[in-house]
Amino acid sequence: MKSAGDLFVRVREIALENFRVFPKLQLAVSGDLVFFTGANGSGKTSLLEAVAVCSMVRSFRTVSDSDLITWDQNYYSVDVIFHDGQQELRLHAAYGRHDTTQNNQRRLLINKEKVSRLAAFIGRLPTVIFSPDDLEIIDSGPGERRRFLDILLSSLYPAYFEALQQYNRVLKQRSLLLRRGVNDASYFAALDCELALHGSLIQEKRQQFVTNYQAPFERYVQQISHSRDAWQLSYRPSIVDGGDRHSYAAALAKNLPHDLKVKMTLRGIHRDRLVFHPPQRPNLELQQIASQGQKRTVALALKMAQYAYVKEQTGKLPVLLVDDVLNELDINRRQAFIGFLHEIGQAIFTTTDVAEMEGFIKERRAHSRVEVFRVEKNSVGHAEVHAL
Ligand SMILES: Nc1ncnc2c1ncn2[C@@H]1O[C@H](COP(=O)(O)OP(=O)(O)OP(=O)(O)O)[C@@H](O)[C@H]1O
Ligand SMILES: [Mg+2]
Repeated sequence: MKSAGDLFVRVREIALENFRVFPKLQLAVSGDLVFFTGANGSGKTSLLEAVAVCSMVRSFRTVSDSDLITWDQNYYSVDVIFHDGQQELRLHAAYGRHDTTQNNQRRLLINKEKVSRLAAFIGRLPTVIFSPDDLEIIDSGPGERRRFLDILLSSLYPAYFEALQQYNRVLKQRSLLLRRGVNDASYFAALDCELALHGSLIQEKRQQFVTNYQAPFERYVQQISHSRDAWQLSYRPSIVDGGDRHSYAAALAKNLPHDLKVKMTLRGIHRDRLVFHPPQRPNLELQQIASQGQKRTVALALKMAQYAYVKEQTGKLPVLLVDDVLNELDINRRQAFIGFLHEIGQAIFTTTDVAEMEGFIKERRAHSRVEVFRVEKNSVGHAEVHAL
């Protein structure tokens, strides 16, 4: 539930240069519920992506920054001005492509001051995204669920993000040694000491997260399914007791002969699993047994619980980014989602069909400031945004 003490985070302005289909845009936003409507391919999702880039320094749609640059240009920039409940902040994220060198340049500013560490930028603007792709977190391999954990925990804890970067760097070095067939244990001792240092921190945070996430997750599953469904979330670390640095290091040392044989690092947080299963049935994994509808329920509950978790950890109401989700929900899930909207701060929606949302918008106008924008392409194919 929303409590009086929570800080209300509000996006106030979005300014873009060469960002996807927007060569240039400056848009003031003042609503609590903001709708971007328009035809397919007009640029609605790109606007949410821009906000996400300032929140997490990455898009939720693509892995490559170059994809975000307007075709035939060589850089993009996004500015988001927002109020975090205490002060107004301006975030600037830019990325340039240099065709002739490998030297791709990223620039991050907070209030026009250069930020040299990514960890200081990520999560300043707290957001939670709801997108049709959320189902993949449930339905794809364990890597997708680790990614979900890593993005979320990185945005909350700079130390997690930095440990993860270091871990991945050292893991790469270790993999290289293994692949080359280096067979000298002394080479591995120093690397494994570093892996244990960073890996144990990451494992500890993941464990803590799953423990605290359990209750809101189960509550939302019940709410969405009218208590017909119950699912639990379990963390299955690759190294038992690996939250402790010494146990972590001991496990790596013990496994080294095997790693040398298969030329891979088989143990560690890069092999951890997050599993959804029925209560008291830890061996039945949701992926194998759940219906499509049950998976949708879990995906929705996962994101609602993410919102609750970020709110609890930061004392702030994150900005909700809702990409085309509302129209896709069946009546029960839609009701649950609309109920959830009463618990949140600002939300930015995209939809092709604003008429479908008319009832909802009317109902909400009584309680919140609602703002509707139309996104459309102009005669030269550039996107424009107009207030309706
Ligand atoms: N780097 C880029 N440069 C220029 N245009 C791009 C770039 N990347 C994508 N586009 C185009 O941007 C347009 C808008 O895409 P976007 O996904 O934001 O639309 P949308 O309004 O969300 O559509 P839908 O309703 O189908 O979800 C698409 O026509 C796409 O081809
Ligand atoms: Mg879209």
